[in-house]
Amino acid sequence: MICLGNICRSPLAQGILEHKIAQSEIKNKANFSVDSAGFEAYHLDETPDDRAQRTAKHHGIDISHQRQRLFTADDFDRFDKIYVMDSVNYRDVARKARHAQDMEKVDYILNEVYPHENRFVPDPYYGGQDGFEKVFQLLDRACDEIMKKYVLNPE
Ligand code: 4NP
Repeated sequence: MICLGNICRSPLAQGILEHKIAQSEIKNKANFSVDSAGFEAYHLDETPDDRAQRTAKHHGIDISHQRQRLFTADDFDRFDKIYVMDSVNYRDVARKARHAQDMEKVDYILNEVYPHENRFVPDPYYGGQDGFEKVFQLLDRACDEIMKKYVLNPE
């Protein structure tokens, strides 16, 4: 899960998907690993934004253990899917790609709900708490689709 700061959107996306896997009935939970990263180093190694933590907690999800980190080219090897929130993230990830196969793993997370539309998850950083709830709802729908496609009914 990739966003710019890795303190608002992608920590929520990580927390939501981890929570759905943990709550699911699948036997091979340990086979799934979810992580998040960003591209701005202002908040390196910090916990997610307080507003993101509060929104997650409101939905019964604890994201306080997460720490901000930067995306690296190694992530293309470590993960099967790489989800971005907007076109800025997409461009930033593309800059790190070493070859075309790396980018085959990358998609806009909302394309799981609205295929091929490349819709953005808006950056809630400069807004209020309500923006975080809106982001949560968008990511929750996207993670439901990810669960159906990759976790509950893997190809
Ligand atoms: P995020 O939001 O990309 O959803 O984590 C942001 C948080 C911090 C900054 C930018 C975006 N920042 O520049 O500090």
